[in-house]
Amino acid sequence: MDPADALALLMSPEGRLDPYPTYERLRAHGPVVQAGPVFYVVTGYAEADAVLRDARFGVTDDVVRDQLMPGWRESPAVLSISRSMLRTNPPDHSRMRRLVAGAFTPRRIAAMRDVVRAQADGLVDGMLAPEGPVDFMAAFAYPLPVGVICALLGVPAADRPLFRRWATDLTGVLEPEITADELAVADRGAAELRSYFTELVAARRRAPADDLTTALVQAHDGGDRLSGDELLANLIVLLVAGFETTTNLLGNGLVALLDHPRAAAALRDRPDLAPAYVDELLRYDSPVQLTSRMSTAPSRYGDVDLPPESWAIVLLGAANRDPRRYPDPARFDPWRAQSAPLSFGAGPHYCLGAALARLEAQVAFPLLLRRLPGLAVAGRPERRVRLTLRGHATLPVRVGRQAAPVTVPGTRPGAAGPTP
Ligand code: HEM
Repeated sequence: MDPADALALLMSPEGRLDPYPTYERLRAHGPVVQAGPVFYVVTGYAEADAVLRDARFGVTDDVVRDQLMPGWRESPAVLSISRSMLRTNPPDHSRMRRLVAGAFTPRRIAAMRDVVRAQADGLVDGMLAPEGPVDFMAAFAYPLPVGVICALLGVPAADRPLFRRWATDLTGVLEPEITADELAVADRGAAELRSYFTELVAARRRAPADDLTTALVQAHDGGDRLSGDELLANLIVLLVAGFETTTNLLGNGLVALLDHPRAAAALRDRPDLAPAYVDELLRYDSPVQLTSRMSTAPSRYGDVDLPPESWAIVLLGAANRDPRRYPDPARFDPWRAQSAPLSFGAGPHYCLGAALARLEAQVAFPLLLRRLPGLAVAGRPERRVRLTLRGHATLPVRVGRQAAPVTVPGTRPGAAGPTP
């Protein structure tokens, strides 16, 4: 298939639901391939890693946004994301990143382990209560990360249920293409989040607490180092980036584990294996599949020349299945010699929350397998028709108390389908 057709297929609903076959069609043309007048698609691991670290490439800035989307300043969603570190280049990016990273300390993250465990235990109690199948996404995969990031930010527990809709709406702007209707939905989510955080910031300014919001408010008030807009935009990005992605790691990861019952049993018996398992789950079905960069200067990758103002579409999910780095890449294998998947990106925008996301998954999976040994998929999981953030809308599970029988992978009734 021609690279341009393969890229169009990837953006279609069919391609978004199961991108892996399309990645292989693109890879057949080489690790970097031109797929349109200004579009270059990166599927190779080494090349994706290098592009993300290459100072000749940057994220979309205001100048590019003005060209591509005149009137973007009228959109609360685009405006909010564009003022966060996620969509800012140096020197603004370095300044914001340093300030937020200074508040998002390893000590603060490590201190979350007991909070994560207690919240996960409470959610499992809730899953045991009802009769019949439970939606894992609603009962566990969503509330755990939202509870954890809200606890870090100091969002009161009673307000947390509000965030799922707002954040899911807003993240539509992270997709490579968005319709006017989807943008209107994203704008609504952004406006709600902005007004919520405006109030929270005011409350913390009046009465400081030991939380991340207070730390960022103090960074802002300590000098003109984080503007008011940047403070709100980064709080929103922390919240949104902090759970939609981790929710998908928990959902995609559980499906993969239930599809590989022997591997799941090994993790149940040996929770110390969790770090290797979580890295393999991140590689195998990455919660973030795509990011992009624009070049400001000529570059050459392999035998492909990229002129200035080219777009590199970096397919993290494809790079994670590059056979030059990961032999037999479609196989789930927590014992791989090479790990370090690109699911958290690389270079200056490397995920600020990687340690927190890993911690949540490393606590959650062994705990789920130990407390719910009969856990099994109990109906057809429904995937979101999204590519950038890959995950499930619903994932019905049966919460048996008896160990589930070991089945041959792929033959389990109601198997999740395309998580190759
Ligand atoms: C499994 C879960 C997660 C995945 C797969 C993930 C993935 C990513 C990726 C790929 C990027 C880089 C985007 C790019 O280069 O364009 C990123 C950036 C970021 N992530 Fe995560 N993330 C996860 C969890 C979290 C959590 C829990 C937080 C915060 C609490 C977080 C906060 C951020 C922030 C603030 C950035 C922007 C960093 C920058 O631009 O300098 N993420 N994440």
